[in-house]
Amino acid sequence: MKSFQVSRRSFLQRCSIVAATTGLPTWWVERQLTAAEQAPQKATSPNDRPGVALIGCGSQGTRGAQNAANWGEVIAVCDVDSKQAANAAEKLAVEGRKPAVYSDFRRVLERSDVHVIVNGTPDHWHTLINLGAARAKKDVYSEKPLTLTIDEGRRLVRAVRQSGVILQTGTQQRSSQRFRLACELVRNERIGRLKEAKVWLPAGLREGPFATSPVPANLDWDTWLGPAPKVDYVKERCHKTFRFWYDYSGGTMTDWGAHHNDIAYWAIGLLAPRTVESRVLVQPIPGGYDTFSEYEVKYAYENGIRLNISTTKDDSIYGAKVNAGGQRNGIRFEGTDGWIWVNRDQLQASDPALLKAPLPEGAVRLYESKNHMENFLDCVKSRQAPICDVETGHRSATMCHLGAISMRTGRKLTWDSQQERFVGEFAAEANRYVAREMRAPYDYSFVA
Ligand SMILES: NC(=O)c1ccc[n+]([C@@H]2O[C@H](COP(=O)([O-])OP(=O)(O)OC[C@H]3O[C@@H](n4cnc5c(N)ncnc54)[C@H](O)[C@@H]3O)[C@@H](O)[C@H]2O)c1
Repeated sequence: MKSFQVSRRSFLQRCSIVAATTGLPTWWVERQLTAAEQAPQKATSPNDRPGVALIGCGSQGTRGAQNAANWGEVIAVCDVDSKQAANAAEKLAVEGRKPAVYSDFRRVLERSDVHVIVNGTPDHWHTLINLGAARAKKDVYSEKPLTLTIDEGRRLVRAVRQSGVILQTGTQQRSSQRFRLACELVRNERIGRLKEAKVWLPAGLREGPFATSPVPANLDWDTWLGPAPKVDYVKERCHKTFRFWYDYSGGTMTDWGAHHNDIAYWAIGLLAPRTVESRVLVQPIPGGYDTFSEYEVKYAYENGIRLNISTTKDDSIYGAKVNAGGQRNGIRFEGTDGWIWVNRDQLQASDPALLKAPLPEGAVRLYESKNHMENFLDCVKSRQAPICDVETGHRSATMCHLGAISMRTGRKLTWDSQQERFVGEFAAEANRYVAREMRAPYDYSFVA
């Protein structure tokens, strides 16, 4: 009895320390730690470790593969830039053994000892590689936003379902306790009936015009462009800053939107908004990045809930010079009885008491994952759906694409979430952005 009391006391002390250092409520930490202690031990043997291949060796892909190496063996890396591939191979070497280096991802997919793909390519390549992987029966951890267009997402959902592979979207905020707690509190009406979610995304870069320059010897620029239109090499179109061009990405609307809209989607719990409208606050510089840097987007759901997105300059995420004093990037849920604010390092409420009381027995519980990559690799073994499966990734990317399409057309639009088409006024104009032309040979036949 005594030892139980002592260990119970030390358990509670551990909970208070974790609560104090994370800012999470003590009842929540206690619930998490109890569940973790009761979870069955995972059997691990060297044979359990899947063969992992990294496709797209920038910093994010390399980080993902390093993380996957905790549970698998990274045996191949692939990039169309030989320098990027060599750097990643160096970083992923184990006891001097480097993974094999490739430039054509299709050769990687042919290897029978590759079980899992980490896809860290820019957004315009995600879908073709993910489709190729599904056809080759490889499980996929794909970076966000899952797609470049809504049509790509629908095709990918179908292919993943048909092949039975596991796909995790790299929207890792779902595996963060802070975001899950915020969403559970909203779903359980801790702030009353949800009226509005407000999302702040970092403002994007507004720079240019840019000059062309010779293609670096280490880069296969034509394949980097892949399905996107052929253009002369411009450094700012390529590594990292590809995210500020619509041919390859969608600006901060899809870059950070893929994270924060995904959380809004989780808390709201409805498939999609019915209408979307927008206001572009600053126009791009001709010859420079062509995505909008500062904007507002308003979504309305059929049950009256609103989702309002604004950009904030109070974050220097992209290294741009910004003025402090605005609103940090994050999400604020406003209900009839209060609000909850959440971002990657804060969880606050209109009244701290809203966070303090435990959720009752029988409360709505959301899918729990504590580590996004571990959840994926657990699901590779169990063949259960991961926390951000293909449909979730497709639907949260769709929210971002809807906002971008409203900005690009300058229209208020109505969305049919079942047909995945715009309907009503300006539908024909907007539906042109649901899919895009792919430059041969980098169309769907490239991975058929
Ligand atoms: N989950 C997150 O928090 C998070 C953070 C950063 C980036 N990302 C996402 O990760 C992805 C990569 O971002 P990044 O900043 O690392 O980009 P990056 O430009 O630094 O790296 C991308 C790499 O992919 C390579 N590549 C392009 N086409 C290829 C192809 N067909 N085959 C093989 N390699 C190819 C490029 O040469 C480059 O080395 C993006 O989709 C981005 O949105 C996610």
